Amino acid sequence: MGKFKYAGIKRSLFTATKLSLLFAALFIIAAAGGSRQTQRTLQSTSPFPIGAAIDPGLLQHNPAYRHVVETEFNSITAENVLKWAGVHPVADRFDFTKGDILVAFAQDHNKRFHGHNLCWYQYNPAWLRSFNGDSLAWEQLFKTHIQTVVAHYKGKIESWDVVNEAFHEDGTLRVEDTNPADNNDDGCIWARHLGKDYIARAFEYAHEADPNALLFYNDYNEEISPAKLQAIINMVKDFKHRHIPINGLGLQMHININTPQAGITEAMRQFAATGLQVHIAELDISVNPKSDTAITYSTDLQNRQAGMFAFVVHQYATLIPKKQQYGITTWNVGDADSWIRHTYRRKDWPLLFDDNYAPKPVYDTVMNVLTAVKAGRR
Ligand code: G3I
Repeated sequence: MGKFKYAGIKRSLFTATKLSLLFAALFIIAAAGGSRQTQRTLQSTSPFPIGAAIDPGLLQHNPAYRHVVETEFNSITAENVLKWAGVHPVADRFDFTKGDILVAFAQDHNKRFHGHNLCWYQYNPAWLRSFNGDSLAWEQLFKTHIQTVVAHYKGKIESWDVVNEAFHEDGTLRVEDTNPADNNDDGCIWARHLGKDYIARAFEYAHEADPNALLFYNDYNEEISPAKLQAIINMVKDFKHRHIPINGLGLQMHININTPQAGITEAMRQFAATGLQVHIAELDISVNPKSDTAITYSTDLQNRQAGMFAFVVHQYATLIPKKQQYGITTWNVGDADSWIRHTYRRKDWPLLFDDNYAPKPVYDTVMNVLTAVKAGRR
């Protein structure tokens, strides 16, 4: 047999071997992939990004929490560590340690990262609240903070809540503390020291630092405060007219089982009409809005909560045009972490996962709605 013929036989044997190895490998991958594919998750089922506000401590030290975040969500938001008190704890020092942990996790697991937030009337460090400078000094402080933080995460954080909760329920801008006696300043130091147009400049400063980042205005109660909703819509119209760089609106949706559904629909409709990205940014659904101390998480409450989750997800998927669906983010992962329990010191079960990070029956409801909307079933 000529060398080539032998080589030919040898080659065909080699080819057969190679092909069989390839098929074996493909079978193993398919089998493995198959088991992964049969594991339906929020992120594998949702037609839009689905996320949670997370905490680096829990992510590092709680395996059950980490597993849920890794497998269920394809978007994460920093709950607290990128706020002024988290990332700028003293006047002359930024601390990106905890934010870097979250960003590294997001990059390692190919998840979108939504930054929260660059400017808020709350959760500001003591040094800032007592800062004593003229308007120029305040402006420099404001601009330097925004541009330092955004530049640090340029190309790593896809989007930012640039300004958070700038309006009162009646649609007026937060400026002065409306009730100094209650030791809770519900005004805004930024408006007081920088003037009412600080919001526009916050967006301009952020855009200068990272022109590719998507910039959001984020607020709560749009679904029950028509005046606040209108104030936000008016601001968007003004920004568009002035070419202020704004890309999206955050509808926080901290709602409860009694929240009127008509208001939710109206807020989504109006936000969709702006043409901007619409992010349900902080979804949780309280079952105990009256802080009833004797309440139990009854089947009736669970069913009412599931109905509200289903309504929100279905309305979002059908009212917000696909190209504007920035996604739905729940605020925290499991009921035990919810800000609601800690802030109102009450029993509540507002999320999709229980105190041990196991999916609750309401999780199955959301999965069914996501499956239906993904299949285009209305
Ligand atoms: O980290 C300190 C800890 O060292 C200290 O021992 C403890 C004592 O109370 O406080 C801890 O800081 C707390 C922080 O959460 C981290 O747990 C603050 O007191 C507490 O005020 C802070 O609450 C956060 C709140 O925003 C204020 O920043 C909540 O976790 C967070 O879920 C909540 O999230 C907000 C959004 O940013 C904006 N939309 C509303 C939403 C709910 O209020």
